[in-house]
Amino acid sequence: MSHGPATPMTAHAAGPLTGEAHVPGDKSISHRALILGAMAVGETKVKGLLEGQDVLDTAAAMRAFGAQVEKRDGTWHVHGVGVGGLMEPEDVIDCGNSGTGVRLLMGAAATHGFAVTYTGDASLRSRPMARVTDPLALFGARAFGRSGGRLPMTVVGASDPVPVRYTTPVASAQIKSAVLLAGLNAPGETVVIEREATRDHSERMLAGFGAEIDVADSPEGRTVTLVGRPELRPQTIAVPRDPSSAAFPVCAALIVPGSDVLVPNIGLNPTRAGLFETLREMGADLTYESPREEGGEPVADLRARFSPDMKGVEVPPERAASMIDEYPILSVVAANASGTTVMRGVAELRVKESDRIDAMATGLCACGVEVRDGADWWEVDGRGIGGVEGGATVATHLDHRIAMSFLICGMASKNPVTVDDAGAIATSFPIFGELMGGLGAALISEA
Ligand code: S3P
Repeated sequence: MSHGPATPMTAHAAGPLTGEAHVPGDKSISHRALILGAMAVGETKVKGLLEGQDVLDTAAAMRAFGAQVEKRDGTWHVHGVGVGGLMEPEDVIDCGNSGTGVRLLMGAAATHGFAVTYTGDASLRSRPMARVTDPLALFGARAFGRSGGRLPMTVVGASDPVPVRYTTPVASAQIKSAVLLAGLNAPGETVVIEREATRDHSERMLAGFGAEIDVADSPEGRTVTLVGRPELRPQTIAVPRDPSSAAFPVCAALIVPGSDVLVPNIGLNPTRAGLFETLREMGADLTYESPREEGGEPVADLRARFSPDMKGVEVPPERAASMIDEYPILSVVAANASGTTVMRGVAELRVKESDRIDAMATGLCACGVEVRDGADWWEVDGRGIGGVEGGATVATHLDHRIAMSFLICGMASKNPVTVDDAGAIATSFPIFGELMGGLGAALISEA
């Protein structure tokens, strides 16, 4: 995706937010549905796919690898080419803003005997790729990128791959998933060990497609064993709605006076639900209604009501993986609570779509909030409900979650908050403005 001119947007203080917020499909599950659908034999049907730019870029990539991917009658149809059947793309694969897209694709293609060149937008070109190409080298793939292991990068896949046993050096579902996807076309057992559990959508979906995959806890950590060269059977997948997108209307409702918002059908996979646990510890009025299971994932309707008495907490570092994308919006809630919120063990936030600790600290300080930070920690001093001054224009650095977090911040601040560019929101939550407006938010596009 090429990024057009910047589109500033301003959030003004809003009256109560009320009603239902139907957020889009889960981004992580959407990427995986397209990639695994393309590696199955026959037609996979996907309902509720996130049609954000990140996922559309992965859909285009799967076409370039030889799969048929199209939307008909509201359902996405992926006609797969089978494990080992991906074809050499004719052109560079442009993954836009998506770290998940590029890292999972690098894995899937790494055990095919052809070269692929990957690139992305300025944000993605600044992010580290060696964390994925290092384990892919163990299969026999070779990577040639810019200095620091950055895109654009060509990965020459292994024509005679060997299976791999790999312990991930950082808690990352992207690294784990890249190794598992590469392992699909390697003979024998590929094993990934993670010291801390990360989102397990790849494991669940691989099992659903019929792969032989085992997950066990051992003293070394969570051990995932995949038997290579399975025949993946096409599936019908209903993508649950994204808890990471639900976080925005939920947190907005907690801090805007008088609000009461229902966010139906949210995936509550325990490897993703850390934010909601933290909010409840802070004293948020957040309830799970009608908990149930859908398509192998736990799901519930979330109800969030204005919560004037939230208190700062210390977020346990071992919870970080289950809420890694939610720290930016948590810091906005923390600014509207009383006392200090402490977040440790979060060095990974520095290598997301932006350095998220730096982006949030800079913007919150400009809004009158005191923030302290170090390499892998930060803390936010709460100013209580209505205590954030706002009145700033903040830089979003092509990062959708930074943009949405500061727009929510503006809804509860004394003065409006402007983001310099709301364009990146379309990567994960293209209906954000419309949905928040429908609840009663006052968002004004300055473009
Ligand atoms: C994702 C994993 C996480 C997360 C990203 C989506 C995934 O990244 O931040 O938004 O779908 O596997 P890391 O694996 O780098 O932690």
